Amino acid sequence: MLFDLKPKEKLKDLFGRKEDYDELSRLIDSGSWVAVLGKRMTGKTSLIKTFANETKGTYINLLGVRGLEGLATRLLEQSREFLVKEVGVDFKFVQAKWSRVAQDALSMLRSKHVIVLDEIQDVASSPYLLKVLKASWDTYHELRIIFSGSYIGIMRSLLDPDEGSPLYGRSPAKMVLKPFSVKDSKAFLLAGFKEHPDVNVSEDQIEEAVEKLGGYAGWLTYYGNFRCIRRMSHERALSETKREGSKIISSELKNFLKNRRKDLYLRALRVCSHGARWTELKRELKINSKVLSFILDSLKSVDLVEEEEGYYWIDDPILKEAIKLLLVS
Ligand SMILES: Nc1ncnc2c1ncn2[C@@H]1O[C@H](COP(=O)(O)OP(=O)(O)OP(=O)(O)O)[C@@H](O)[C@H]1O
Ligand SMILES: [Mg+2]
Repeated sequence: MLFDLKPKEKLKDLFGRKEDYDELSRLIDSGSWVAVLGKRMTGKTSLIKTFANETKGTYINLLGVRGLEGLATRLLEQSREFLVKEVGVDFKFVQAKWSRVAQDALSMLRSKHVIVLDEIQDVASSPYLLKVLKASWDTYHELRIIFSGSYIGIMRSLLDPDEGSPLYGRSPAKMVLKPFSVKDSKAFLLAGFKEHPDVNVSEDQIEEAVEKLGGYAGWLTYYGNFRCIRRMSHERALSETKREGSKIISSELKNFLKNRRKDLYLRALRVCSHGARWTELKRELKINSKVLSFILDSLKSVDLVEEEEGYYWIDDPILKEAIKLLLVS
C-alpha cells in the first residue's frame, strides 16, 4: 500500500525509483560500496531496504546505536545464525576487542551479498569504524556495503576521507536521491488514492498538496495516509502533515544547532527560507563575510540550504515550517 507510513520493502510498492534502483544495482555489481544520500523523507530507507530484500541481503538499522560496541552487537545479532550454524561457535568473540568482533561479524555476513547499514550517523563518529571497514575491504573482496543515514550526521570522514584516513582511496560511491518531480509527485498521490476508491479527491487538492509539500515521498505519504486511513479532510490532512513533519525536522535541527551559534544560524535559515542573495543575507545578519560564508557553507554541507550563483534558498516546505517553529520557541 503506497500510503503505508513504514518504509517500503518490495519493488512492487516502491514508486518511481526504477532508475535509482537500477543505478544502485549497477554500482553494487561493479564492486563498489555505495552511500545513498538525500534529504529527509526522500525515500532512502525504502530504496535500500527494498534492495536488501530483493537481493536477499541484510538490512541493519543502526538508529540510536553508538560506537563500535553497538555496531558489533547489532552485526552479531544478524550473523548469529551463521556463527552457530556454519562455524559452530556462539558468542566467543564477545570477549575479544569490539573491532575484531565487528570485523568477524562482517565476514560472517559477507555471503549475504550485500549488507545495508542505515542510520550510520552515530556510529560513523567512531574512529575505529573506518579501520574496521578498511580491514574488511582489504580482506573480503566479495563484501558489498550500502551506507545511509541522516544528512546532518553522516561524517565527511566516511564520504570524503583525506590522505591520512584508512579509507583514503576507498570512499564509497555516492548516490543522491532527489525529491520527486512535480509530475511524479502528482502521479504518486493519484496512484495512492487509486488504492482507496471510496475516498474522493479532486485534481485541485492533488495540485495543492504537491505545491505545499513538495516532492518528498515521506510528506506526500503522510498526507495520503491522513486522507485515506485517518479519513481527514484535505485541509486537515495538509495541516497535520505540516505539524507532524515540522516536529520531526525541528528535533533534528535542534540537534544540529547544539554547540553552534543558534541565533545566527536560525536567522540565516529564516532569511534563506524566503530566498536571498548574499548581499541581502549580509545586510540582514550584520556579520562579516568570513562568518557568513562559514555559516552558509555549513548549512549547505548538511543539505539544509541550496545555492546557485550566489542565490540561497530552502527547498523543503516542511523544513521552512520547522524553522518558523524554532524561531518562536
Ligand atoms: N519510492 C517510494 N514509493 C512509495 N513510498 C515511498 C517511497 N519512498 C518513500 N516512501 C514512503 O515515504 C516515507 C518515508 O520514506 P523513507 O523512510 O524511506 O525515507 P527516508 O529518506 O529514509 O527518510 P529519513 O530521512 O527519515 O531517513 C515512508 O512512509 C515510505 O513508505
Ligand atoms: Mg531513512
